[in-house]
Order: sequence, then structure tokens, then C-alpha cells
Amino acid sequence: MAVPPMHSGPKRADSSQPSSRGTWGSKLGFILAAAGSAVGLGNVWRFPYVTGSNGGGAFVMVYLLCIVLVGLPIIVAEVLIGRATQRSPVAAFRALSRRGGPWMLVGWLGVAAGFVILSFYTVVSGWSVYYAYRAFFGGFTNLGASEINHMFDALVADHTRNLGLHALFMAACIGIVISGVRSGIERWSRILMPALFLMLISLAIYGCFLPGWRKAFDFMFAFRFSQLNASAILEAMGQAFFSLSLGMGAMITYGSYLSKETGVLGAATSVVALDTFVALLSSLVIFPVIFSFGMAPSSGPGLVFKSLPLAFAQMPGGYVVAICFFSLLVFAALTSAVSLLEVVSSTFIDLYGWSRQKATLFTGCVAFAFGIPSALSGKGFFLTWFKSHLSMSYFDLMDNLASNWMLPLGGLATAVFAGWFFRADHRDREFLVATKSTFRLPWLYLVRFLAPIAVFVVLLNYTGILAKIQHLMR
Ligand code: PHE
Repeated sequence: MAVPPMHSGPKRADSSQPSSRGTWGSKLGFILAAAGSAVGLGNVWRFPYVTGSNGGGAFVMVYLLCIVLVGLPIIVAEVLIGRATQRSPVAAFRALSRRGGPWMLVGWLGVAAGFVILSFYTVVSGWSVYYAYRAFFGGFTNLGASEINHMFDALVADHTRNLGLHALFMAACIGIVISGVRSGIERWSRILMPALFLMLISLAIYGCFLPGWRKAFDFMFAFRFSQLNASAILEAMGQAFFSLSLGMGAMITYGSYLSKETGVLGAATSVVALDTFVALLSSLVIFPVIFSFGMAPSSGPGLVFKSLPLAFAQMPGGYVVAICFFSLLVFAALTSAVSLLEVVSSTFIDLYGWSRQKATLFTGCVAFAFGIPSALSGKGFFLTWFKSHLSMSYFDLMDNLASNWMLPLGGLATAVFAGWFFRADHRDREFLVATKSTFRLPWLYLVRFLAPIAVFVVLLNYTGILAKIQHLMR
């Protein structure tokens, strides 16, 4: 079988030997780094509160289905595209499509999404750093509900502190990414991820001894059919995308550093399993605490920053538990933010031949500047003006734009590309490396039909078209 030619533009830097871009030290290195990207605020902060707001069991069930039927096929497609081309998203789509053209735009959409997410992700990550710091200095002990609520509201409204934390976190990301794929990203993932797992498992064991554990377990896993509604299904899908870092080329980029001998399906499945494990276990840490202290699981985004510290303030050993929990949140956020910065930086490295130092410093600084309005969204102009004109703050606008539009669009396009436009012989050969051929057809069916259709429905829902159709059918 002939290998299809790579189409590279005239005198572009990405025609240089891919090996000069860096590679993972081992398959485990890839799995830890990619799990580092996937496991983030989405698992520890967002998944529990979204589950809580959607009533528990049924939502968890649907989420798991979305992960297996939509998330897994698309993550396999992304890693496959990355490993096949050994390039970051834009250059990868250019290399695989006949005339570059429209498919390169999918790569650029991913880069733009990475850039937008990074700009506000570091702001929430900054809050986690602040809470870890407060936990360390015993900041929650002896505080009551109103003081803890006030702590969060005051933090969000404090411009100087938000800017400082945003800068600090971005600097940490730049520091890691600038050191390279193996000695920066992989090395830190090898340190932070096991530490995160260890803390999470310890906290989960502690959670088993809390009086609210049974209730929490029931809440999470008892399948109450009556709770299943359309919006929960759609929210579960969006959450699966965000949590697996799909639709913006993060997994293409990380897959591009994967050795040609590593099987894509096995590696991707491990990443998906770790991500799901952390999301479920985080909930089994948070809900027992919430139920033991008679709080509501449905308190929304404030669950981790308001309800949880209050419980920490009251429970035995709460000081240590709080330190563990918020450090875990920081570690999870850091390895995810690093992957966002890597996608954008590697694009400049691959396309324009920039050095890693220049690309990382440049993109990190621009993302910082772009994120300033997000950091200032707690009060003042970026809250009030945007709320009155667009009915959401600048921060929420960025989150909404990236998570609800750019990621699903990117994921849809990636699935369509992998299923229909990736040259079949090349694709199959890449898929079958260290992978049983029995998995090829099921994967192909999912990536061709089920995944794109499911994502399309989610997008229709966001545009409000679905509601109109439902209305007309009534
Ligand atoms: N997956 C990360 C999380 O769960 C967020 C993320 C999205 C990271 C997209 C990279 C790309 O928090």
C-alpha cells in the first residue's frame, strides 16, 4: 500500500523532520500527559456540580454512555490524526487533506478554541490556587456559612488579586511548556498525576467513613428513570467533550508526539478510563461531605468553592482534607492548562518554525492579555456592560463560546474527517498498529454515524432550532 503524500506548503517549516519536535519517553508518558490534559477542573469542579444540578444517577448513566459512544471514538480519531502526521492540528489537517483548504480551518478553529479556553481557564485555576493557599494557612477553620460565602464573592470581585493569580498560573504553564515535551510536560505529568491519584483515593477512602456516604452513593448510581430529560442528555454530552479535552486538537497534538509503534485504541482507552475514574471518584469525595453536612447537591458552580469549604470547616481532620482537596484541584488544572498552551504554541512551532521558547512565551503572554477581561469579570465594566448588552459577563461569554460552540463544532468536524475524508487505506493501517482488527469496524461506525449525529443534535439544541422543531411538532 502506498503511503499518501504529505501535502506541505512551499518552504513551510512543518516539512522539517517531525522527530525534531520532541516525543514522549514512553506509552505511559503519553497516557499520563493526555490524562493530565483530560483530568482538570472539568472533572473535579464541573462534573460534580452538573451531576448535582441534574439529580444524580440518571445523569451519570447518560454521561457514561456519551463517554463510550461519542467521546472514545472521537479521542481515538484525534490521537490517530496526530500520530499519523506527527504534527499539531493545523499542519496535521493540511498534511492529510488533498488541498489543505477547508480542513485546515478545523485546525485553526481548534487553536482558537484552545486560546480562548486558556484565557479563562487560568482565572478559575487561580481561584483554586487561592483556596489551596487559604486551606494551608487554616483559612476555613472557625468560619461560618456567611463568611465562607463572602470569601468567594470577595475573591471574584477583587481585581488585583485575580490579575495576580491569573499571571502566576500562566507563568507556571509557560515554565512547564517551555521546557519541552519530554522534560517539561511529561516530567510534570509524571509527578503531578500520581500525586493527584494518591490524594483523590485517600480522600475517597476518608469519604467512605462519613455518615453521608451511602446517600451519596445512591445519589450517584441509583438510576431513576423519571429524571431523564432532553436537557440532561445534552448537558451530559457537552460535559463529556469538555472533560475529555475533545474538539480542539489537544489530543491531536499529544498524539503527534506518540511513537509510531504505540496502538492508538489502547492508549486512548486508558486516557478515557482515567478521566472517567477521576470524575466519578471526585463526586464520591464531594457528595458524602455535602450529604453528611446536610447541604444541597444542587448548589451549582459554588459547590466546590462555597459548600465544600464550609463542610471542611466543621469536619474532623478538615484542615488536612481541605489542603489535599484544593492541591488536587490545582494539580488537575495545571496539567490541563499546559495542554491548552501546548496546542497553540506547537502550531507556531510547526507552521512557522518558531523556537519553542519564542512560541511559548508569545502565546502565553497573548493569552494572558486576552484573559485580563475574564479576570476582571467579577465586578465593574466586564460584568455590568456585558451583562446588560449580552446577558452574560465577559468570562461567561468566553466559556460559552468555546465550550458550547467551538468544541462541539471541532469534534463534529474531526469525526466527519476521520470517518469520511481520511484516506481509507492510510487510516486503517494507522488504526491497526498494535490493535486487533475486530475493533476497526465498530470504531468506524461510531465515528462515521453515531458520534457526528449525536454532536449535531447538541449543536442544534444550542441554536434553539431543536426547541422550535419540538414546538412545531406539538
Ligand atoms: N479537559 C479539561 C478539564 O476537564 C479542560 C480542557 C478542555 C483541556 C479542552 C484542554 C482542552 O478541565
